[in-house]
Amino acid sequence: SSHWSGNYANTTGGSMASGQLSREEALACVGCRHACHILLYADTEAQLFEEIPIRHIILMQMRFDGLLGFPGGLVDPSEESLEEGLSRELWEELGFSLSVTLEDHVSSCHNPSSHLITHFYARRMEEKEIREVERAAASTATDHGHEVMGMVRVPIYTLKGGEGGLPSFLSHSFIGNSRSQLEDALVRFGLVTPEELQTALTHAEQRRK
Ligand code: GTP
Ligand code: MN
Ligand code: MN
Ligand code: MN
Ligand code: MN
Ligand code: MN
Repeated sequence: SSHWSGNYANTTGGSMASGQLSREEALACVGCRHACHILLYADTEAQLFEEIPIRHIILMQMRFDGLLGFPGGLVDPSEESLEEGLSRELWEELGFSLSVTLEDHVSSCHNPSSHLITHFYARRMEEKEIREVERAAASTATDHGHEVMGMVRVPIYTLKGGEGGLPSFLSHSFIGNSRSQLEDALVRFGLVTPEELQTALTHAEQRRK
């Protein structure tokens, strides 16, 4: 599969000087640590204020360190496969059993300064199923209130004048290169158009000034 370079090189939120590589290349790295995270999303007919279509439910989490990121965590490939490790982390952090497969893999990215390879996965779910994930994450997940302060949905609309929605969300602080992973996925999976993302990024940039 081809590696769409997306926003990895030109966003302010991600770790710099990081490079894309295949899952196989990543696993061949000697002395690298591996982390696997996943974007869970669903379509929805729901509307905000009975007016603004929400279009998609997209899950991220507020981490223990106050940063936004995706559910998942560190995996030691000598003990379990990347996908088994991610499934384990999802059980810990979401209290939801989801068996991640090779088909869910999106990209792998090497950060030379930390010798950490971050593997990114995505899974489209039914709205009913993703609502179950939200319920479990807030109730039975063992890491709730410890490693994970709560799941959040990503607002993908932009309110009039660029005052709120995606621009505000992108103005928060993100762990590692999770902001790049989000931006890449939003366009890659057709959740927003490249133009919508660009508009949101422009407003987000203005908010930071
Ligand atoms: P412990 O169980 O406490 O070890 O945490 P964990 O296994 O859940 O690990 P965590 O989710 O914190 O991820 C490990 C490392 O990966 C972090 O220290 C970050 O550097 C990085 N990281 C965390 N979340 C994300 C994410 O959403 N995207 C990316 N690219 N990196 C992340
Ligand atoms: Mn209200
Ligand atoms: Mn964890
Ligand atoms: Mn984690
Ligand atoms: Mn862990
Ligand atoms: Mn843990």
